[in-house]
Amino acid sequence: MIHPGKLIVVEGIDGAGTTTQIERYAEHLRQKRRVVRITREPSQGPIGTMLRQALGGRVQLGRAHHSEIMALLFAADRLHHLATEIEPWLRDGAVVLCDRYDLSSIAYQTATAAAELLERVDFEAWVRTLNRFALRPDLTVIVNVTPAVAEARRRLRPGAPDIYEYSELQTKLASLYRDAERILPNDRIVHLDGDPSLDEVSAALSAVLDPFVLGQ
Ligand SMILES: Nc1ncnc2c1ncn2[C@@H]1O[C@H](COP(=O)(O)OP(=O)(O)OP(=O)(O)O)[C@@H](O)[C@H]1O
Ligand SMILES: [Mg+2]
Repeated sequence: MIHPGKLIVVEGIDGAGTTTQIERYAEHLRQKRRVVRITREPSQGPIGTMLRQALGGRVQLGRAHHSEIMALLFAADRLHHLATEIEPWLRDGAVVLCDRYDLSSIAYQTATAAAELLERVDFEAWVRTLNRFALRPDLTVIVNVTPAVAEARRRLRPGAPDIYEYSELQTKLASLYRDAERILPNDRIVHLDGDPSLDEVSAALSAVLDPFVLGQ
């Protein structure tokens, strides 16, 4: 799809600060009078709603084939999210800031897949194939945070942890995110250090995104 907008994806482990940084950057763009839309995955649509219930442990999808089921649902949610929100906004010329995208699917579902499955099949490649109709982002920013730092931040947030918020998994995810260029070799990817203060990370994000979004 050719469009006048920009699709910018922000990724990171749980507690990396993606939601906070997206909100801050959107405000920065609004002050520059840019049309900006914030969205996230799982989406607000019907499949995304079910996924959020599964992540919160309110819906049980069972143990057998759990990662495969999640990968299929996330891929379905993504196509619905693209069709109903992201693509129309991009056609209108908006800057769309998306909190997680298919790199999350590849990382989280691969990191939780059964060991015997990973021995038999190239699970990462399968998840990529499921997402082959998903529009590629114009840019993906990965906020890399030390797992212990992210864990401390998660503790400050209200609400119970989701099914993926345990330290062994978060450490695996952090290393998969560092490997993003291998996982998505055709995508444009930038890494940011997310350990410093909110203001420092925001400044680094603006330094990366402003030339791309504002052309300066
Ligand atoms: N650089 C930072 N320094 C200190 N605190 C931070 C920083 N970034 C985020 N936080 C705080 O950490 C908590 C988690 O941040 P946030 O919700 O943005 O993370 P997230 O990456 O969106 O998490 P999730 O992936 O689970 O949605 C919030 O309370 C936020 O204010
Ligand atoms: Mg978040």
